[in-house]
Amino acid sequence: MRLPILLLAHIATAHRVDFNLTATTGEGSNTSSIAATALQNFTAVVETHGSDRGVLSRAGLGIPGKLMQRLALILAASTVLGGPLRAVEAKASNAISLPCTSRCTEPSVQEGRVINRKWVLKARPKGALEVSRDVELVEEEIDLSTLDVPDGKCVLKVEMLSVDAFVRTMLDEGAYHGTLPMGATLPAIGYGVVLKAGPKGSPKVGARLSGMVNAQTIATVDVGGMLGVQPMLPLFGLPLSASLGLLGITTGFTAYAGVFAAAQPPKSGEVVVVSAASGAVGSIAAQLAKSTGAKVIGIAGGPKKCEWLVETLKLDGAIDYKDSSTTVGAQLDKLCPDGVNFFFDNVGGSTLDDVLFRIAPGGRIVICGAISQYSGNLNVGTVQGPSNYLKLAERGATMVGYNVLQKLSSMGFWTLRTYHARGLLEMHETKFSGIDTFAPALQGLFTGLHIGKCVVELE
Ligand SMILES: NC(=O)c1ccc[n+]([C@@H]2O[C@H](COP(=O)([O-])OP(=O)(O)OC[C@H]3O[C@@H](n4cnc5c(N)ncnc54)[C@H](OP(=O)(O)O)[C@@H]3O)[C@@H](O)[C@H]2O)c1
Repeated sequence: MRLPILLLAHIATAHRVDFNLTATTGEGSNTSSIAATALQNFTAVVETHGSDRGVLSRAGLGIPGKLMQRLALILAASTVLGGPLRAVEAKASNAISLPCTSRCTEPSVQEGRVINRKWVLKARPKGALEVSRDVELVEEEIDLSTLDVPDGKCVLKVEMLSVDAFVRTMLDEGAYHGTLPMGATLPAIGYGVVLKAGPKGSPKVGARLSGMVNAQTIATVDVGGMLGVQPMLPLFGLPLSASLGLLGITTGFTAYAGVFAAAQPPKSGEVVVVSAASGAVGSIAAQLAKSTGAKVIGIAGGPKKCEWLVETLKLDGAIDYKDSSTTVGAQLDKLCPDGVNFFFDNVGGSTLDDVLFRIAPGGRIVICGAISQYSGNLNVGTVQGPSNYLKLAERGATMVGYNVLQKLSSMGFWTLRTYHARGLLEMHETKFSGIDTFAPALQGLFTGLHIGKCVVELE
């Protein structure tokens, strides 16, 4: 139990935590408000789950509710009141009465007619996704007062959607994540607030849940299970959208797993290269790699993104793969003259080959994704494979792939949260507004429209 407490102490004392509870706690100092925020988040989780290990275990956190409650008390004791004996008092006087933030909200509509606007598949894309040709935004009216919602399902008003590359892969036949039927709503992870639940009244109206809500404004979804919605993980004062980015399964957790769990992690002094480094997973992976003391080079498209990698993320160098005056290979030779020890690959294709050619003895290549190959090449045998793979044998190097769901861990959660709190990790977001922007944003993922995590905020 010692390690989590130490990590929590980090969170409590960090300066980059949201201070929005200062007024409601009545405590003046930043430290107490930070602790109150953390305490409130813990309490929300405990209240939601009781002693059930459910969602936390599924998310890889594996922390029973009772332990969470104890940790909350200890945290409150050490930071709000300065001693364990007064922790219970803190819980009684402050935490229970705090208004909830990440856990629930008052939904603006509970009964009556609502319009669901959703993106549906019109035609299987031939190559790159083309919004006007392949998908369509349609509307349907839902009468909440007569809608029969069975137990185990609920209706959500969706608030935020994550824009993820896997969605494009599901538009093709034979997709690894499952093929989307024609006319079905585009898959999307997100979160929203319960408008209506089944006869047992669970989950409660107003509860905020996250999971597969799909690209729509009103989602009728399963509660629980891998494909259903779950209570949100504790964010410790971060904005709600962090649940999709920094602390999102397909973003922060993916980056953590690729850097620290899929292969021998980078070491101080080694050379790390990250492709799609200005994107969601890549930008976090590059910063995590930097935290090990390695020299980190990011690959991205265009001078603006490359400047961002060096100036904002403080990487040691950047390679512009779109620069027509040179090649990726020539830029790698200049920045990594002794080869590459660790490659975090999001792109595949010729980029993977360029790095394979320059892999150092004992080097590791971690295949996180291959976005350059997603537009129609998967499942039909036209993925551009690595022709330089024999360099693995010559240099005693290894190449390994992973799926984040195979590598979820509680250490990922604590590392991401505490590194952010300590200023070692920055999470940049590109936020689009309105359901109309979802499909264009998805198309833009393949043309480099955004920097950092791409999300769509619904009204
Ligand atoms: N293994 C797992 O479990 C797992 C989980 C989640 C995500 N992923 C993978 O992680 C990768 C990144 O996903 P993300 O959601 O974080 O997206 P993202 O990096 O935020 O967006 C994709 C980026 O890829 C770059 N890109 C697009 N087409 C390219 C091409 N042809 N060549 C080179 N770069 C290209 C674009 O940046 P530029 O402007 O630089 O072109 C774009 O910013 C994807 O490959 C995804 O499949 C894997």
